[in-house]
Parts: sequence; structure tokens; C-alpha cells
Amino acid sequence: MSEPQGTVLIDKERIARRVREVGEALSAELERERASLRLPGDDCVQLILVMTGALVFAADLIRAMPVRMQIRPVTFSSYPGAATTSQGLNVVQDVPGDLRGKRVVIVDDILDSGRTLAEIRRRVAKQNPASTRVVVLLRKEKRRDDPVEADVACFDIPDAFVIGCGLDYDGLYRNVPDVRVLAESEWKR
Ligand code: IMP
Ligand code: MG
Repeated sequence: MSEPQGTVLIDKERIARRVREVGEALSAELERERASLRLPGDDCVQLILVMTGALVFAADLIRAMPVRMQIRPVTFSSYPGAATTSQGLNVVQDVPGDLRGKRVVIVDDILDSGRTLAEIRRRVAKQNPASTRVVVLLRKEKRRDDPVEADVACFDIPDAFVIGCGLDYDGLYRNVPDVRVLAESEWKR
């Protein structure tokens, strides 16, 4: 692989610590919720993973979550190729249709314009789940095109284009362990 590009914004040790902390806190909250909703002990949390960006974050998060869960991948793409701004939503693999009465946790890499997560949240809400949470690794500080809140954001970051820890530029750098800012001079024209 070519040299990782950009400058480090959040290093891998910080990410590992924070993701573990979030996974443990979220699990405790889900267990309290299960008891208060009087759901059976074998009730299964539905983790909606927004592919492909959520892959790296989710792999670490779920291993810090000792709860019964099923992984439900969905694919909504909005940054085709070398685009660094959202180009409109393309549904490749839709939200599953069996979420009624379930506790749903939507996991994504980043809350940016909000369009992806707002749309997924609407598709989940239509099914009357028992609860819904949105959990993201990164939340950009900016105005959302489609307003949606993250219930948990591991890190708030400035409105810059970032790569690493699952986030790509033109399909590359998802495996870079730190979150890095890719300078405009490093974008393809
Ligand atoms: P949205 O604009 O909030 O709908 O974000 C859609 C998707 O765009 C995210 O899930 C990411 O996969 C991708 N994305 C948003 N911002 C960045 C970025 O800074 N770097 C890489 N991918 C991004
Ligand atoms: Mg994504």
C-alpha cells in the first residue's frame, strides 16, 4: 500500500480507548433498557451497519459489547469515486424489514451532511422498533442538509475531509489505523 496521506487528527490509541468506553457504556444502557421494557433475556439487539465505512469502527465496537446482537449490514452510498462532497443517495442494500419491536442500533463511520443517517433512521422508524439509536465514530461540526442527531458520537471533528479507520478516499485508505485529514492539495482534480 502507498504511504498513508494527510495529517493525523485522532491517533489509533485514542480511538481504541474511546471505542471501548463507548461500547461498554452502550451495552450497559441496552441492558437497562431491556429490563425496563420487560423484554426477554434472549432479546437480540439489531445492529444496522452502514457499509462499507462502518466496518472498521463496528469491528472494534461490537467486541466491546457483551450483548446478544445480530449484525444487519446495509449499503447506502453517497460519495462515488473521488468525490469529496455528497452526490445524492444510492440504496444498494436496504434496511431489513423485520425490525418491529426490536431494539435497533444504527452504526456508521461519520455524521456529515446527515442525508444517509436521516434516511436510514426514517426507514427504521416506519417499522415501529422498540428503540432506535444512532452511533457514529465521527461527527462533523457543521449544518446538516437533513437534520438527524447522533445519540452517541465518539469524536466531534471540524468540517474537513478525513480518511482512515474505515473512511475512504476513492476506495482507498480504509485500513489506515489513525483518522487523518486529507488536504485539498491531495485530492484528485
Ligand atoms: P452523509 O453526508 O452524512 O450522508 O455521509 C455519507 C457518507 O459519506 C458517510 O457515511 C461516509 O461514508 C462518507 N463521508 C462523509 N464525510 C466523509 C469524509 O470526510 N471522508 C470520507 N468519507 C466521508
Ligand atoms: Mg458511509
